[in-house]
Parts: sequence; C-alpha cells; structure tokens
Amino acid sequence: MSEQNLVGSMTAAINEAKESAMLAIRSTADLAGLRALSADLNKKDSPLNSFKSEMGKLPSVEDKRSIGQLLNAAATEIAAALESRTREFADSEISARIESESLDLTELLVQRRRGHSHIVTQATQRLEDVFIGLGFQIAEGPEVETDFHNFEALNMPKSHPARSEFDTMFLEYGEPNSVLLRTHTSPVQIRVMKSWKPPIYAIMPGRVFRRDTPDATHMPVFHQIEGLVIDRGITFAHLAGTIEAFTKAFFGSEFTSRLRPSFFPFTEPSAEFDIRRADGEWIELGGCGMVHPNVLISGGIDPEEFSGFAFGFGIDRMAKERHKVEDIREMYTNDLRFLRQF
Ligand code: DAH
Repeated sequence: MSEQNLVGSMTAAINEAKESAMLAIRSTADLAGLRALSADLNKKDSPLNSFKSEMGKLPSVEDKRSIGQLLNAAATEIAAALESRTREFADSEISARIESESLDLTELLVQRRRGHSHIVTQATQRLEDVFIGLGFQIAEGPEVETDFHNFEALNMPKSHPARSEFDTMFLEYGEPNSVLLRTHTSPVQIRVMKSWKPPIYAIMPGRVFRRDTPDATHMPVFHQIEGLVIDRGITFAHLAGTIEAFTKAFFGSEFTSRLRPSFFPFTEPSAEFDIRRADGEWIELGGCGMVHPNVLISGGIDPEEFSGFAFGFGIDRMAKERHKVEDIREMYTNDLRFLRQF
C-alpha cells in the first residue's frame, strides 16, 4: 500500500472508530453503562488507542503528525461527549430523586370540600341553642324503653285507647309487649322527674320509632324534642309565653304562635301549637299542655306542691319546612347531591 493510501485508510478508520464511540455514548441508558463504556474506550487496545501504535508504521513525520492530531481531536471529542452525557445523567438522576423524595403540598392549597352536619342534626343543635338561651338544660333517655315509661307513667294504662295512635314496635325481650322502641320523647319526662329535683327546665331531643310506612311526610324513624318545666306556681300562661318566646327566637321575630285546644293523656289541659309565617300561613308544630297530676305522681313529684307544662314536636318536619324539602324520605337516602345543598 502506498503511503498516501495508508494515511487515507487510517483516517477513515479513525473517523469510523470515533463515530462508533460517539454513537455508543449517545445510546447508553444510564450512568453505570456510561462508566463501563468510558473504561472500554480508555483501554490500551481500544480501537482508537490501537491506532497510536499503528501510527509508528507511518514513515513521514508529517503523516505521523496529522494522524496524531486526528487521534487527539477524536480523543478530545469523545472525552467531551462522555463528560456532557455524564452530566446529563447526573442531572436527570437528581431530578428524579427530587421528584421521588419531595412532598406534594399543593393538595393543601386546593380548597377541599368539607362535610357538614345533616339538616336534622343542624336543626337539633339550633333548637338546643335557643332553649339553652331560655334557661333550659338538655336531657337524654334511652331509645329502647319500657312500656311503663313510654305509656303507663304517661297516664296511658294498658287499655287506654290513645295507645293505638302510636304504632308501636315491640322488642322480643322480657314479658311480651313490655319493652319497645320509644314512640315519642315523652318517656324522658318521667326519667328526668325521677332523677332531678324541681325546679326542672329541660329539653329532651332524640330519635323515636313508629310502625309507619315511609311516605312523603312519614318515616318509621324520626326525631322529636320534648320540653318539660316543673316548678312552683307554673301556669298555662308560662306555657304560652315560652312557646311564643321560642317561636320568635328560633324562626324569627316575624313569626307568631297560637295554641288550639286538643287532647293528650299526659297533659290537662292540652293544646296543639301552630306557628304563623310572615305570609300569614299557619304551620302545625306540636302538642303541649299542663302536666297531668297522674304524670307528676309517676315522676315522684307532689302535684300539690308543684305544677308544670310540657311540649313536644317533630324535628324532621321542621327541617323539612325550613328547607322546603318536598319529600321527607329524601333526607334519609344519603344522596350527596341532596345533602350538599344545606
Ligand atoms: N308525645 C306527643 C306525640 O308524640 C307529643 C306531645 C304532646 C308531647 C303534648 C308533649 C305534650 O310533651 O305535652 O305525639
């Protein structure tokens, strides 16, 4: 081979070796691969390094110099490529680590939708607030009651016709028909009278149960709030005044109340109370009256010394009226689209 040809073919081979080294550098997948490649390229017998010994075969100084420069340039280019690729990998590894080790705090900045109390709970809490403001205390009683507390002590003995108005759910416990799910919150009156000493100013909210088929205005499980006042010299005027004060405090000063004669076994006289909206419409709210002497006696209170009044009404119905809910069943299907409106 002529000298010229030898230089030409070495130049071509060097360029080819350099290109393949550059290609290998570009196609490594990670830092470890790059380190292995760098070690290979720096080996004495690597394609490019082997040209260094072959260079000696070139007779002329000029050819040696030009091939030497070509080899140096290739080595420099490869070293630069190795270095920049190394930096690239190092950067992306750092970014990946930052990414994987960082906490995503943006969640805290996003306004999250918070839950809230059910409308019946909201109504109960407002009722409690208003009555506490009027000087009442809150009492609670069991949902599973005895026939004695639910009926007998409230002046409804076994044969009393008023019992049939309460579609009672009895439990298979003890004597037949002696234990039941309370049909109203009135039995809590008896429990309060027995455990507290007069003067008593109490409200008793809670869940009550009746064997009713659910429809737009009835549920077999619903809520009532009971009120009981026992003190010396309590009259019907105190009852009417308390109902009126409550109506204005709870519904607003544009509301008024009225009492209509009625009958309940546990009160005498008894009344039903209605409230009047600003537009003149009357809404029935509940029952009330002067606590019957037999009931005071059941509660261990001397009717000669003390008198009192009581009232009771449904909370669900009030929440329904207030929020203009068409069908009371909607309040208990747990449909978030419904619940989120309030
Ligand atoms: N317990 C009655 C009912 O569930 C409501 C009631 C009426 C309660 C008159 C009272 C009252 O305390 O005096 O229908």
